Amino acid sequence: MATEALIKVVEQQEALDQLSDQIQPLVRNAFKSAGPAGRELKNIFHGTWLGHPLHPVLTDVPLGAWTAALALDAMESISGRRELGAGADAAIAVGLVGAAGAAVTGLTDWSETDGRARKVGLLHGLLNVGATVLYTTSLVLRRKQKRTAGVGFAMLGYAVSSASAYLGGHLVFSEQIGVNHAAAQEMPKEFVPVLSDAELREGELKRADAGGVPVLLVRCEGDVCALAHTCSHLGGPLSEGKLEGDVVQCPWHGSRFNVRDGSVVDGPATFPQPRFETRVREGQIEVRSIDR
Ligand code: FES
Repeated sequence: MATEALIKVVEQQEALDQLSDQIQPLVRNAFKSAGPAGRELKNIFHGTWLGHPLHPVLTDVPLGAWTAALALDAMESISGRRELGAGADAAIAVGLVGAAGAAVTGLTDWSETDGRARKVGLLHGLLNVGATVLYTTSLVLRRKQKRTAGVGFAMLGYAVSSASAYLGGHLVFSEQIGVNHAAAQEMPKEFVPVLSDAELREGELKRADAGGVPVLLVRCEGDVCALAHTCSHLGGPLSEGKLEGDVVQCPWHGSRFNVRDGSVVDGPATFPQPRFETRVREGQIEVRSIDR
């Protein structure tokens, strides 16, 4: 299909990688240099507090508002009713405010991506910048009573934002950005032995296998804690991360989870890690899903 061929062309663009190499460290360092407040802000932008990425929630604002503006412009040109045009102008302004929110959250999420998704994500962002410039120009022209040109710029902006929205969908449905990577696993409903109790030492991260599902085991002050081993953000291997007290840090993009309950301490992850119930029988650690 033409769209698949187009995505392949995007994925082959080395320039997108080079530009990403320049921008990503700037975004990450901006948050890092602000200390704990920067980390809090980053968590807010990712949507850690929401239990879901915030960016796709906010993208509905510009897309909805600009679709309304397109319809109102068309109705004004057919009916000649000036108040419809005023509604279109207001919708464009609302869309620009929403676009600012979508931009900061999208940029924050993108700063923690790699590979193909990073390239497609950068182009998605650049197209959104283009659409925002076109709509800003449209609004300025409308205010100067140059309506025909203003409507023309809005139509161009709508075409560019639609192309960008297509790439946004590709990032989610094909690259699986923003989806819960720990959710698609069939957790064991009955207890299964996974490791000898003697093999799990305090302060150690251990990977085990529970009926084909990788499990992270940690001894927490004598208790055995067990979480899904696959990081909910983009599938990183948690046993290769760092343990600090009751918090494990993913080695790939630094998401931090509480090993006792799986809750997200810091993003970019927004979904908690699935947790297992544990027990020790005849010297073997056994686990089963909490949600049976
Ligand atoms: S895979 Fe990204 S933080 Fe774990």
